[in-house]
Amino acid sequence: MKEHLIVSLDLNNLEDIKDLVKNLGDLVAFYKIGSIPFIYFGREIITFLKENNKRVMLDLKFHDIPNTVARTCEGALKLGVDFITLHTSGGFSMLEEAVKATLLYEDKKIPRPKLLGVTVLTSIDEAHFRDLFGDIKRSLSEQVLFLAGLARSAGLDGVVASPKEIKMIREECGKDFLIVTPGIRLKPGQDDQARTMTPGQAISAGADYIVVGRPIVKAPDPVSAAEEIIKEMESGN
Ligand code: C5P
Repeated sequence: MKEHLIVSLDLNNLEDIKDLVKNLGDLVAFYKIGSIPFIYFGREIITFLKENNKRVMLDLKFHDIPNTVARTCEGALKLGVDFITLHTSGGFSMLEEAVKATLLYEDKKIPRPKLLGVTVLTSIDEAHFRDLFGDIKRSLSEQVLFLAGLARSAGLDGVVASPKEIKMIREECGKDFLIVTPGIRLKPGQDDQARTMTPGQAISAGADYIVVGRPIVKAPDPVSAAEEIIKEMESGN
């Protein structure tokens, strides 16, 4: 079960990151590099993780015109990362061009990373969603489902979505469509995450991977926190 855990390294101190990865050892095989560590340490942090045989999810949530995103995805692929994220709200052409850009390298011995679409951020609740989009006809969950369908039809490998939306995405997009879930908390109502579930609930609902940041990296004892989360994932509650 531990291979389904992705730890989000949202830290701005390289030594802290290296110590954390060393201390977590074999407990964690997959790390997420988002904009915080990437803006501070760039490629160095990815090289460090790869040298330590870790898988890497590059979570920079690309969102731009199709050509810019496609060429950016080519660059990310050459870094050797395993997952890349892009905002589904960038639209069908942007998503499709990104897929084509990564497929171009299929025969060049560079493994193709999985492309994951971000639907609606897990920090946004229904009221915030209404506030942002005014009198949009779709509810938040209908919008998530719409964006997941868009991602699938453009050829993406999966989505990043809140645990609350896993079941409906699974029903709509099928068992081979990857669902990666942040917004994981052992107790509800912590931090800025609005649509949360426990690790066990998210796995039972059908998440392929859960992403956990602060509950591990900011814990007084990150190793025990990771162990507790893996135990919870195994229990499925
Ligand atoms: O610390 P926490 O567990 O909330 O970290 C969750 C991570 O997942 C953060 O790096 C955040 O940027 C990312 N994320 C998210 N919601 C999304 C997509 C990514 O929280 N929809």
